[in-house]
Formats: sequence, C-alpha cells, structure tokens
Amino acid sequence: MSFFAPALAQATTIAETSELLYMGSALLFILGIKRLSKVKTARSGNWLASLGMLVALATTLTIVWGEVGIAILLAGLVVGTAVGLYLAVRVPLTAMPELVAFFNGMGGAASMFVALSQISYFGSELEDGTATMAEGIPTDALMGGSHFAIAIVVSILIGGITLSGSLVAYGKLTGKVKGSRLGPIGGQVVNAFLALFALFLCWYGGFVAETPGMILAVQLTLTLVALVLGLGLVLPIGGADMPVVISLLNSYSGLAACATGFVLQNNLLIVAGSLVGAAGLILTNIMCKAMNRSLVNVIFAKFGEEAEKGDDGYTGVKQTSAEEVAMLLESARSLIVVPGYGLAVAQAQHKVRELCNLMQERGCEVRYGIHPVAGRMPGHMNVLLAEADVPYEQLFELDRINGDFKNTDVVIVVGANDVCNPVANTDPQSPIAGMPVLNVWDAQTCVVIKRSLSPGYAGIKNPLFEADNTLMFFGDAKKALEDLVTETKEL
Ligand code: TAP
Repeated sequence: MSFFAPALAQATTIAETSELLYMGSALLFILGIKRLSKVKTARSGNWLASLGMLVALATTLTIVWGEVGIAILLAGLVVGTAVGLYLAVRVPLTAMPELVAFFNGMGGAASMFVALSQISYFGSELEDGTATMAEGIPTDALMGGSHFAIAIVVSILIGGITLSGSLVAYGKLTGKVKGSRLGPIGGQVVNAFLALFALFLCWYGGFVAETPGMILAVQLTLTLVALVLGLGLVLPIGGADMPVVISLLNSYSGLAACATGFVLQNNLLIVAGSLVGAAGLILTNIMCKAMNRSLVNVIFAKFGEEAEKGDDGYTGVKQTSAEEVAMLLESARSLIVVPGYGLAVAQAQHKVRELCNLMQERGCEVRYGIHPVAGRMPGHMNVLLAEADVPYEQLFELDRINGDFKNTDVVIVVGANDVCNPVANTDPQSPIAGMPVLNVWDAQTCVVIKRSLSPGYAGIKNPLFEADNTLMFFGDAKKALEDLVTETKEL
C-alpha cells in the first residue's frame, strides 16, 4: 500500500488518479476476500472489501459527475442505499440464498443493459466523427471484429442468461415457480438449439456485423435468446439443487461484469468481475464435492424434486422428552451438538448455546460437529453459531470430528437430517450416496430434535431415526431446547 501515496501524488490527470484509485480498491477487494476465508479475520475482511467498494463508487461518481448530472446520481444513491439497508435488516439468514439469487440477476441485468446501451454511440454523430465511447474510443470500434463488439455480445449473452436464470432460481426457492417446463422452454433439445443459435449470434455480432441496423438486430435477438435460454437452463433443475445453481449463476454474473469491464474499458470492473467469477466457481466446486455430486449431475438430475414427504416407513422409533434427555445429560461427560437447517428455521442458536454453557459449567466437554453443507448456504451454521457467541474453538469440521463420535456420551442433532443420514454410506442407489456424513450413530446415545419424521432436503428416509441408540425429541428446535434448558437447570 505504501506504493499508493507517492504514486497518487504524482498522478497528474483525472484518468491517472482514477486508475490508481481503482487499483487500490481492487487490492482492497482481494485482501478482503483473503481475510474472509478465516473466521477470526472475516469481520475485518468484510470491512476492507466494503472500503474497496466505497473507493470504487466515489471514484466512479467523480468521473461521471459532469456527464450524468447530480440529480440522477443522488436518486440512484438514495434508492440503492434504502433498498440495501432494508434488505440487510429485514431478510432472515435462511432467506439468503434467494436474496443472493436476486442480486445475481440484477448484476446480470446491469451487464446486459450496459452492453446494449453502447449501440447509442452509433448513429448520426458517427457521420461527423464526433461521437466517442467511454475513454475516447471511436464508435466504429463497435463494428464486428473489434474486441468491443466481442465483449458486448459476451456481456449480453452471459448477462441475459444470468438475469432470467437467477429469477427462476429465486422463484423456485420462494416456492413461486413450480414445474420444470414453460411450454417447450426447459426441454433439452430446445436448450441445445437455443445455445447453438446464441453462439451463432455471438459470432455474427462479434465478428461480422458492420452497420448499426445489423448490429442492433443481432443484439436484440441475442438478448431475447439469452433470456429464454436462462429460463430453459434453470427451470428443469430440482429445487433441492438451487443453492448450487445460485453459486454458479453468481459466477456467471461475475463473468458478465468482467466482459462489461472490457466494453467500458474499466479495469476495476474487469478485476472485480473476474474475482466474482472465480469465487463463484470455487464455491460451486466446494458445494458439489461436499455433496459428492458432479456439476453435470446437479444440472441434469432432478435431485429431491419428486421426493415423497411423509412419516411412513419407520418402525421402532423411540420418542423422548425434555425431562428424559436432561437426565441423560446429567451423567454425560462429553456432548457433541450437530446443527442443521432446522436450527436456522427455529432460530435456536442462542438456546443451544445456553444449554452448552450449562453443560460446560458441569464439567462436560462440549463440541459442535459442522457439516460443510448443513443448512442452505455455505457456512450457514458457522454464521448462526457465531451470532450466538459460540467460541470458534468448539466448532469442528466433519473430518476433524467424525472419528470422535464413538467416544462421545451424547450427541444432540438439532434440526439436521441429510447430513447425518447413514444411507449415504450404505446405499449406492441413494441420491446422497457417497456424500460425507457425520457419524452421529457411533455415539453412545443420539438425541434428534425435529418436529416430525419428515425428510430433509434430499427427500429421503433416514434410518438414524429408528436406530437402537437414537431417541427422537419431537418439537420445534427452539421450544425443545428451551424445555431442555429448564429441565437441566432443575436437576
Ligand atoms: P435437512 O436435511 O434439510 O433437514 C432439516 C430438518 O430440519 C428437516 O428434516 C426438518 O424436519 C427439520 N426442521 C425444520 N424446521 C424445524 C424446526 N423449526 N425445528 C426443528 N426441526 C426443524 O438439513 P441438513 O441436515 O442441514 O442438510 C442440508 C441439506 O441441504 C443437504 O441435503 C444439503 O445437500 C442441502 N444443500 C445444502 C447446501 C448448503 S451450501 N448448505 C447447498 C445445497 C443443498 P421436520 O420437518 O420434521 O421438523
């Protein structure tokens, strides 16, 4: 960073100064992401990345101030800040995936519209040679064969797919979009045809088209095809796989922004877009690995879609109560809590912490077993437990804790299901076959807190619930833990 102060002092033009500031904010983004990878440094990472965004915004606003006018800029700032604040305060953590889907869609839309707007630099002004694009690039640069023309069609294609695909993902997660087809849209043959047609249009728009009319026609057709293709690609994917799809679309939105960076000749957009593109791909890969699925399987298999929801098929299930579990805990020397999606739904993280504090005060060793895809988004459980001030040293990733269940007195599974389903190890035909799971059944006693025998995300039966050493504690996780804390205090 020490390079910046002298370099900034020497920068003589607005362009030089803004390039340096952009480079500074790109560095802040990179440092921020690096720090986000560790819980201890994540908070400061978030601040660094936010600072990077502030520098980027301020620099851009200074550049476009004269061109756009203060009224539009202020209106954008006020509306954007208000919407951002509202969403940050109101949207619960469990609804984060759909919010991210919506944001991805807006990112795709922005890239698509910016690329489309470049055509306005063509036209009558071209004849007198006065019209220029951003940074003084002549408008004939929009013609086929130039790197602008190629970047524009790439922006439109990826931006359009990201926009409509993300809106479908949002609709599926919120339950507003059901089914895998919209007439012929969603069929694999139609998708293949649209993909080929889109590639043809990209080639024509990027390398061949020369006149404004031709370019406009290609761009508008490409926009339509990309939007329909986005619908068709995401509609057939099962609702259960939406978080992975969202991560993939996140990556697309980054690639679209990167292409738009080439259109606008904006280095920061190129860097930031590439960062988002790479981060989204890495996350998609991590999620697929943690579920032992390939990306192709996620995109083409309807995972969990037609799964039956119900309590049937279980025999010998043993039900328990708060009083009984408290008695069990009285003599426990070691306890592992396995949180899952139900903990997030019930917002039971504070109650779980309270129970664990009580147990620790009694000399019991307390740990949390965290599965990489527990919940509905990466790090979901870590975020919830951090919110309840659970010490990070008590959180153990699957690999580190799986061997310890056999030496543990009591395991309490709170609203988790798929992540501790033994069929992943035993049934090669199961949709979760091969997915690494937490071996909670190895403990002396396993208590499962959930409201019923309903399946989890994958929609399959869980034999853990009928195991000899499993006790089912039915109820909402928060209420069940509240009762358990009360009973434990009374002992
Ligand atoms: P799930 O398998 O979805 O099970 C959650 C359980 O919580 C349900 O069986 C439900 O049973 C229970 N529950 C719901 N509300 C509750 C409440 N208020 N109180 C108590 N229990 C409640 O969750 P999991 O074990 O965390 O597994 C996550 C699943 O999501 C995996 O299949 C994973 O592959 C998938 N997934 C995760 C991600 C990421 S990145 N985390 C991404 C894609 C897919 P009742 O209805 O009987 O209460």
